Formats: sequence, C-alpha cells, structure tokens
Amino acid sequence: MTDRDDKPAAKLWGGRFSEPTDAFVEAFTASIGFDQRLYDEDITGSIAHARMLARVGVITEDEAKKIVRGLEDIRGDIERGDLAWSVELEDVHMNIEARLIDRIGDVGKKLHTGRSRNDQVATDIRLFMRRAVDAIIEEANRLRRGLVDLAEAEAETVMPGFTHLQVAQPVSFGHHLLAWHDMLERDVERLIDTRKRINIMPLGSAALAGTSYPLDRDWVANELGFDGISENSLDAVSDRDFQIEFLSAASILMMHLSRMSEELVLWTSAQFNFIELPDRFCTGSSIMPQKKNPDVPELVRGKTGRVYGSLFSLLTLMKSQPLAYNKDNQEDKEPVFDAVDTLMGSLRAFADMIPAIEPNRERMREAARQGFSTATDLADYLVRRGVAFRDAHEIVGKAVRHATEQGCDLADLPLVELQAISGHIEKDVFDVLTVDGSMAARDLPGGTAPKRVRARAVAARAALDASKIV
Ligand code: ARG
Repeated sequence: MTDRDDKPAAKLWGGRFSEPTDAFVEAFTASIGFDQRLYDEDITGSIAHARMLARVGVITEDEAKKIVRGLEDIRGDIERGDLAWSVELEDVHMNIEARLIDRIGDVGKKLHTGRSRNDQVATDIRLFMRRAVDAIIEEANRLRRGLVDLAEAEAETVMPGFTHLQVAQPVSFGHHLLAWHDMLERDVERLIDTRKRINIMPLGSAALAGTSYPLDRDWVANELGFDGISENSLDAVSDRDFQIEFLSAASILMMHLSRMSEELVLWTSAQFNFIELPDRFCTGSSIMPQKKNPDVPELVRGKTGRVYGSLFSLLTLMKSQPLAYNKDNQEDKEPVFDAVDTLMGSLRAFADMIPAIEPNRERMREAARQGFSTATDLADYLVRRGVAFRDAHEIVGKAVRHATEQGCDLADLPLVELQAISGHIEKDVFDVLTVDGSMAARDLPGGTAPKRVRARAVAARAALDASKIV
C-alpha cells in the first residue's frame, strides 16, 4: 500500500495545508537567517538521537548508520560552505533534515521519530550556551590572570583611593586592580552556577507531552555530556530561565567592565594622567592631531547597554507566556547570540589590554599626596595617644582647615603648628602622614598594605590555577 501523495510537499509539515505559505509570512517567520549558527549542535544532537533510536529498536542499526553518516557529511557540507540555506525550510532544523532526506533518501525521514523541533531547539541552544559559557569563563579567567600579575607587580605603587570621586585615602594600585579581579571572580562564579542549569537535557520531551516511544533519555544525555535530564516535558520545552540567568550574569559582568572602563578613561585623561594605554589600543581624532582616545574602554562601556537590552528582551519575551512552547521563543536567539559575542569581544579586548597598562607611578604618588589623604592616619595617631576618636576627628578637621588656609598638605605643616592644634602630637607624626606609611598601616585581611596585596595576588593566582570549568 502506498500513502496518498497528491501535492508537492515542499514543507516538512506541509501535509495538512492546502495552499502555499504567503511569501512574506514565510520570510517573516523564518529563523534560518540567525539559527544557522546552531548547525553544529543540531547535528550533534541528531546523531545522538538517531543512535539511541537504534539502541531501543525504533529504527535498525543500519538505518542509524546511514543517518549518522549523512549528518556527518552535511556537517562537512556546511563547513565548506556547500549548503545553501533555504528560507522556505524555515529554520536550521528543517534545513538539515531536508538535506538529509535529499542525501540519503527515505531513511532520512526516520530521524525525527519521537522528537519535535520544540525539544530539539531547546537542546541545541543549551549545547550552544554550554560551549559559549565555557569560552566566556576562559576569557574572563585570562583577564583575571592579567589583573593578578599586574597587581602583584604594582603592590607598592601608591595611588589615591576615592570616595565620591574625591581623594579619600592612599591605596596600593595593586589593591585597586585586585578589586577589579574580585568583581570578575564573582562573575565567573555566577556563570559556573548558571552552567549547572544550562546543562540539563530537554530532548525526549517532544512537542510538549513526551512521546510514546521508549526513548533512552539518560543514554542520550550522557552522550551529549549533559549532567541530567529535565523532569517535566511541559517545562522542558518552554523553559528559557537558563538564558535569562546567563544574561543576568552577563549584564553584571558588563556592568563591571563598564566600571573598569570608566576608570581607565578617567586615568588616561590629562587631568588624572595615572596610566598610559599603548597606542595599539587607542585611536586618534580626524580633526585634532594631538588626540589619543581610549576607544576600547569607551566602547566596552557603551556595549554594556546592548547586553542589558538582551536581558530585557528575554525577560519581556517570557513574561506571561502560557505553557508550553510558543513561537515567541524563536526570538530568544538573537539577543543571546549578541550578548555572547559582545562578552567575548569585550573580555578579549580587556584581557589583551590590561597587561599592557603603563602606570605613571610618580604622578599617582603625587596625586595621593594631595587632598589630605592621610587625615584619617593623623586621627588614628591621636587615638593611639589616648584621644577619643570623635575628638581626634575634630582636631584633624581643624588641622585640615589650617593647612587649606596655608595652601599646603598636612605633611607640609611645621611641627609647631601641628602641636598648636593638639598637644598630643610629636615628631613621629610625620611617619604616619606619609602615603607609604598610611598604606602599610592597613595591614589586616582585605587591607591595602602592599604585603597583603601581594599575598592576595598569590592566593588569587593559585585559585585560578586550581579552577576547572567542569
Ligand atoms: N525555529 C523554531 C525556534 O527557534 C524551532 C521550534 C519551532 N517549533 C514549532 N512548533 N514551530 O523556536
């Protein structure tokens, strides 16, 4: 008996349709323009699915072999640029399946047994994101390493620490760099945590309800390197939480890079002049010949917005969606791809640029000496001589006012003038009024004393050496 086949079925789902899809609707609903990026994951998932179908006896071993070989060949075609993606075939899944049927004939039609594009696409995107997250973590760790190395080398370099962007207290430049490192360390932790929820396999959920075939989901999950399988078919085909989590972690990471960027932009300005960025990370102006602009940090600062945009796209995409799969979900891909690319590019630029920073150590030291940055040290000195902290605060405030009137820093005031402000002050006060003394005195865990900074750099490097993604 042959099956009725009285019209050309260009579409893999064309059976129940009596007229062709409107040309514009076809283009409007197609995702092949962007989801072709998932071809490798799609083929990998299909190969595991086909092998499993043979294992459980739904297709024969021979059929599975033909399918697997066909899929491998198609992977080769795509990589050589020999597969012309067709909008008529809507998405990457149906393009590959149709190509398979073209290549190997009717046996190719058995691949989609017990599967739907709904669990297929959810599987593909999880495989894609697992790979992307691993690459992002690697690049973030390369940047962390650069920060740790520079921090260790610059542990003794003194710079002004700021609050309210006003000079506050002297800090080690290395301490500042390690602050950036610690921000990134949390970002990596968040990504590692997100990866756990990415690495769950939805395949086997089929369209929404599961399937009547005795699929061995655990076997497929193991083949594909998933940590486990989803437990609810409705949730599995509609869940996009893992993408939203990724985009949240990505947004926070970009927010951190934007803060670093902002500081690099400030520090390279003539007014701060704390650091130089090598010419290869900067560009000039087409009109002002003297300009050297910190484009890389500026651009990274700007790109932060598009990653936040992706997060909001996905949150809004998923808001109020009824279970299970809805076509809306096709819109999940472009924002995620864009965020992955933006993160990879930004991290790469930073990881290349950070080790090339040239600190202007003298200029930083000079800036740290200004703005009464050791005023707190003077107050602490008085406390050690028995003055209550609040009274010491008041006394130092008077000293700062006096120095301001004199147009000099605290350390420049003659001893007699300091003694006129407080009888507790003696000659050794000048030891605590130096920026190095101030920095070295903050010798407690988490403090800016150069020896603490070096120890923290060593520990952070050891943690990086020990870290493995999986
Ligand atoms: N291109 C679709 C997507 O990206 C694949 C799943 C389509 N499923 C469906 N029932 N139309 O989401």
